[in-house]
Amino acid sequence: MATSKYKRILLKISGEIIKGKRKYGIDPDFLDFLADEIKDVLKTGVQIAIVPGGGNIFRGLSGSKKGMDRATADYMGMLATVFNSLALKDALEKKGVKSRVQTSITMKEIAEPYIRGKALRHLEKGRTVILGSGTGLPFITTDTAAAIRGLELKCQAIFKATKVDGIYTDDPIKNSKAKKFKKLSFSEAIKNDKISIMDDSAISLCRESNVQIIVFNMNKKGNLKKAILGQKLGTIIN
Ligand code: GTP
Repeated sequence: MATSKYKRILLKISGEIIKGKRKYGIDPDFLDFLADEIKDVLKTGVQIAIVPGGGNIFRGLSGSKKGMDRATADYMGMLATVFNSLALKDALEKKGVKSRVQTSITMKEIAEPYIRGKALRHLEKGRTVILGSGTGLPFITTDTAAAIRGLELKCQAIFKATKVDGIYTDDPIKNSKAKKFKKLSFSEAIKNDKISIMDDSAISLCRESNVQIIVFNMNKKGNLKKAILGQKLGTIIN
């Protein structure tokens, strides 16, 4: 069995891919596929912490653009990530992948509260830990939550799972001439205003601690494993 290049990674799953082919909500087929992919890569010995987004259910920023109080909208977005966390745990456990959900906003009846030490113990025991409700704070994206949790859980890389093959010079869906970057420095990723795949605060946190970010297409079977084995795919920011 091939061994992972990494001991521990943080996998950021955007809400956008959780909705799969649907316009809104959770696509059980995608979660089933994702659970199979995760089960497969765990065999390489890697430990995985997961931060889901919530945009498939509610996006705080969109709510505030329509006149909602931004903090209230962000709290709703954080609750959306808890929906995704519970659905993902369910999908993983169905495949026999031991998982725990921890939330930054305490809701003890449905999930463990986020406790760094406990999260680390779970990871060491080979359980995936799904971290819901972002950082628990409004005005902070789930990308930044992923960077913070990734750093404090001593993950060696942040894997940003998306539906595109990496970072392009322009939106590849709208512009067929857009070219993919194989590599970017942290500073290039921050300076380039066209790069909106991850927000600047998340990238700068990773830069400060020199933790690389790998942006890759999660919808292609086997991609997560290739990336974890260290094969070059997607865009690497380091
Ligand atoms: P170990 O310390 O390795 O034994 O971890 P464990 O998670 O198996 O044991 P623990 O006794 O902490 O938890 C048993 C089960 O209860 C697991 O499914 C946990 O996720 C769950 N659990 C633990 N604490 C809480 C909590 O505060 N709220 C909720 N809802 N579930 C919890």
